[in-house]
Amino acid sequence: MPSLMRKTLLYLSEQKKAGQLIMGMPPTRTMALRFVAGEGIKEAVETARQLNAIKASASIDHLGENVNTVDEAGHAAQDYLDALDAIGAADVNCNVSLKLTQMGLDLGEEVCAKNLRAILDKAKSLKDNFVRIDMEGSAYTQKTLDFHRKLWDEGYHNVGVVLQAYLYRTEQDVRDVNEKGIRVRLCKGAYAEPATVAFARKADTDANYLKLAQELLQNGTYPGLATHDEALIAATCQFVADKKIDRSRFEFQMLYGIRRDLQERLLSQGYNLRVYVPYGNQWYPYFMRRLAERPANLMFFLSSLVHK
Ligand code: FDA
Repeated sequence: MPSLMRKTLLYLSEQKKAGQLIMGMPPTRTMALRFVAGEGIKEAVETARQLNAIKASASIDHLGENVNTVDEAGHAAQDYLDALDAIGAADVNCNVSLKLTQMGLDLGEEVCAKNLRAILDKAKSLKDNFVRIDMEGSAYTQKTLDFHRKLWDEGYHNVGVVLQAYLYRTEQDVRDVNEKGIRVRLCKGAYAEPATVAFARKADTDANYLKLAQELLQNGTYPGLATHDEALIAATCQFVADKKIDRSRFEFQMLYGIRRDLQERLLSQGYNLRVYVPYGNQWYPYFMRRLAERPANLMFFLSSLVHK
């Protein structure tokens, strides 16, 4: 997508007023539902069950980020405790993904740590379930990794991080997490970042992704390779075959509603696949990031507004 358009959409994704306006348009809601499993935990667990039926696992994400009060953070954490209970009760192969700004990181480390410890304890009590901390914009990269490291050093090992291939720093971060045996999801990165911290050219991000994926496959702990990029996936499959890396040692990850054909193909070829399943009513920033990733989504969205 032309970089100006992408930047504009990503800028709008952070504007609450624009969000209220855009979310109020009925066609937006219809299109957002392509990427979101539904509003409640029931729909999310049902989606996980359907994914399990085709041999995929799931990670559910209760949408929300950048809360403003300690109470809001507490409610968001409670939603995750309830989600973990629902996953346990339904006995589905599903973990959870969350954002630290949703858990109160901006309100103080202790607020966030209290919420995270409760979630990690609950996950552990339910067949040692796993919690993934999503990665947000680069202003949060170091804070997120430091926060994760603090919990890790307290003995919480059922929690992993996400690293973004568009950041220059990620090569070093991959080395650090590999050394500790921390589980990583590798993605390209979904935020608007300046050229001082991130590759400006998509081709450079893609090349870095492949290099980092290979490092994680050889020296990492059950990495999650999160991409829908067919060329990168093909190169990864070739690398794994050449190096005789067992398919049980990693998984591919994709987003709900994107490239279902590719998801099914990888499953039929015997690869592990996890689908990231967002749910809830706070879908605006997530939806805008999905629009920013693909011009066709934006065109479809604009034409649905015109032809409503
Ligand atoms: P790329 O953008 O090059 O797309 C490759 C192909 O995939 C496209 O040609 C198209 O076919 C398809 N595609 C990609 N995006 C699409 C869309 N929106 N709609 C329709 N088709 C699309 N980011 C982040 O910063 N922090 C995070 O924690 C996460 N977490 C995360 C989890 C999982 C499971 C995935 C798959 C992705 C993320 N991301 C993320 C998002 C990630 O950084 C990235 O923005 C998107 O995955 C798009 O990049 P691709 O690797 O798919 O490649």
